[in-house]
Amino acid sequence: MLVLGIDTSCDETAVSVVKNGKKVLSNVVFSSLKLHKKFGGVVPEIACRTHVEAVTYAIKRALTEAKAEFRDIDLIAVTFGPGLVGSLLVGISIAKSFSFAGNIPLIGINHLEAHLEGAFINRIRPNSPFVGLVVSGGHTCLVYNNGNYELLGRTRDDAAGEAFDKVAKILGLTYPGGPVIERLAEDGDPEKIRFPRSFLGRDSLDFSFSGVKTAVLYYVRDNLERQASGVMCQASGKSKQDFKRLKRTTQSARRTTHIADIAASFQEAVVDMLVTKTLLACKIKRVDKVVVGGGVAANSRLRKRLIGDAAELNIKVYYPSGQFCTDNAAMVAVLGYRRYKRYKKREISDLSLTAVPNLRFGE
Ligand code: KG4
Ligand code: ZN
Repeated sequence: MLVLGIDTSCDETAVSVVKNGKKVLSNVVFSSLKLHKKFGGVVPEIACRTHVEAVTYAIKRALTEAKAEFRDIDLIAVTFGPGLVGSLLVGISIAKSFSFAGNIPLIGINHLEAHLEGAFINRIRPNSPFVGLVVSGGHTCLVYNNGNYELLGRTRDDAAGEAFDKVAKILGLTYPGGPVIERLAEDGDPEKIRFPRSFLGRDSLDFSFSGVKTAVLYYVRDNLERQASGVMCQASGKSKQDFKRLKRTTQSARRTTHIADIAASFQEAVVDMLVTKTLLACKIKRVDKVVVGGGVAANSRLRKRLIGDAAELNIKVYYPSGQFCTDNAAMVAVLGYRRYKRYKKREISDLSLTAVPNLRFGE
């Protein structure tokens, strides 16, 4: 059975063909990132215009790479929320057109649930129950899966990825901030600055990242010279070698190290909050498995800390491989397949399927 997955929830136009819910035959991701960089974040209007330009080409490419034809597709799975409404509508419209034209069943997929599905691609799928942590640019939430999803906690302000992006902006770095901060943090001391951690009460499973973000803002305002940010801004768009060379050759070595300390200390604070709450959720729900998904799941410090701390409690952590952390359509196709196999007709969407920008877990 071949499933065509489509995801246009944010700035990536993603299309994938997956065989029997397991074998990823193609995983095409066109990103409009470059167009958003100068604005320091995703501009919805630009994102949906770019989806319109890219989506048919992405489908063609995904089919070609999979050595498949349109008539070979047995199911179309498309993200219908959460995300940017204009962006979502592009994917949904094309999925409905293809479904209608080819008389192919269509299934609407929740992007957050698909992110957790990413952890099972080419890997062993654990049995329920498990705790899920979704950490992306738009969402941060903890869920409990015991067949169905139950929302345990979510961010009360910024998403974790959003905090990375905003702190990168404060430091004069490029968008998206997560990978740049992670790279910078490798040269910094995570204990250097003790940024605040918000735990929102001992038993709360909610998150809050606005406090640490504001603390970085004040720290930078009070301690950092602007010039140093400029240096890092240039550096962040370059390769690691370029970045190191630049650091050596500028007179600002001392100051750039300082920025590296800020990045490492900020990252450590975010990781602390994510790890603490995730393990608390395991304790409350008495489960020994954690599944992580979303762009921030690519962060190696988060992986290391979560895997290490969880191992001490005999909890096993399941992670997506790099390409399935950030937005992609293979995760959508895989979830579509599972739903279809499990619930058949009950899960099939009709042509009234539309975008739900604020879709929650389990909806
Ligand atoms: O899942 P995703 O691709 O899109 C959403 O659904 O939002 O996540 C994008 C987010 C961005 O905020 C980006 O800064 C963050 O994931 N991100 C990272 C890393 N790679 C991407 N954050 C921390 N460390 C990373 N290595
Ligand atoms: Zn996402």
